[in-house]
Amino acid sequence: MQIPELTSFNLSGQRVLIREDLNVPVSQGKVSSDARIQAALPTLRYALDQGAKVIVMSHLGRPREGVPVADQPEVSLAPVARHLAGLTGYRVQLIDNYVDGFELPEADIVLLENVRVNRGEAANDDGLARKLAALCDIFVMDAFGTAHRAQASTAGITAFAPIACAGPLLTAELKALGKALQAPRQPVVAIVGGSKVSSKLEVLDALTEKVDALIVGGGIANTFLAANGVRVGRSLHEPALLDAARRIQAKVQVPLPVDVVVGNSLSPGGESRIRPINAVRDDEMILDIGPQTQAKCSEIITPAGTIIWNGPVGVFELPAFSAGTRAIAVTVAGNEGFSIAGGGDTLAAIEQFGIADQVSYISTGGGAFLEFVEGKALPAVVALQARSEN
Ligand code: 3PG
Repeated sequence: MQIPELTSFNLSGQRVLIREDLNVPVSQGKVSSDARIQAALPTLRYALDQGAKVIVMSHLGRPREGVPVADQPEVSLAPVARHLAGLTGYRVQLIDNYVDGFELPEADIVLLENVRVNRGEAANDDGLARKLAALCDIFVMDAFGTAHRAQASTAGITAFAPIACAGPLLTAELKALGKALQAPRQPVVAIVGGSKVSSKLEVLDALTEKVDALIVGGGIANTFLAANGVRVGRSLHEPALLDAARRIQAKVQVPLPVDVVVGNSLSPGGESRIRPINAVRDDEMILDIGPQTQAKCSEIITPAGTIIWNGPVGVFELPAFSAGTRAIAVTVAGNEGFSIAGGGDTLAAIEQFGIADQVSYISTGGGAFLEFVEGKALPAVVALQARSEN
């Protein structure tokens, strides 16, 4: 059975409670990257244009439950409220005490303070879910980035709200990821970077069944190199996972770096050198892929029908080690197939290299993106499905 969508309902005059993932980086009281806010905007605009009384809820960070935001101000959504108002010109009112009901203020958008401070949120407590459900006429689950969490504001509420449906962002994410994974255009290439094999082992394993080539980068590539007898010096790698890396290589083509950029420190002014892969010294760290490896990756990525990208291939925040990730980004941008990218670091790289409008779909999900790729059911989506079957 199809999950009902927001666009199927008459929203006029209705209290529409929208769960978004507005968990954005905040630095010194200011939103430093607003990709998730931008992604939520079409849903908010649509609901407002339809005459809804729009109430938005989100988490920010991982606050302590039962502790008021006043006592942990770093997790307040106040910077998000200010940013949203500045971006749109809407009157945005942040509300602190809402769980037991509140009077709707004169505002375009009511933003409920961090849902994760409410007792029972993480445990998906029925009591809290019922109270949140009582705040609305229509509940809209739109937070793809948090759809992998079975919590009161993402999953529990769905059973108790008068109407529960999927928002346009959630629907678009599920459609784009489905396109990349369920019936992808061939050949399929995945690029998985980042620091640790251990944190992405499940996704790497799942991808072996779905892709023709698995390009690895960052500390993940170092573990694969070490598994192939390459000396990686002081590079970040996981000796306990060499067998896991070899097992993955036995199932799928994993092109390994043939040259790398090394350094002795991660300080911005530190020296960098390009080395052939078998010439890394014991006191050096591999911090990026080299030009020959970039070319090799480009040969694999360019003809791909589908690209799934999660994680940078080097320390791209530092100019000396950014060329590899830049080359990957530019190649993905130039690809004529379907490309999908997800994860906080990947989004930051896409922003840094200015290719956002050349990637077919940019997911707002970090953990949710990975869990979807792993083939896991997302509890918030399961809750919507269960509701639509009853
Ligand atoms: C994310 O940043 O991936 C989502 O907002 C989920 O956050 P969480 O990992 O704290 O549940």
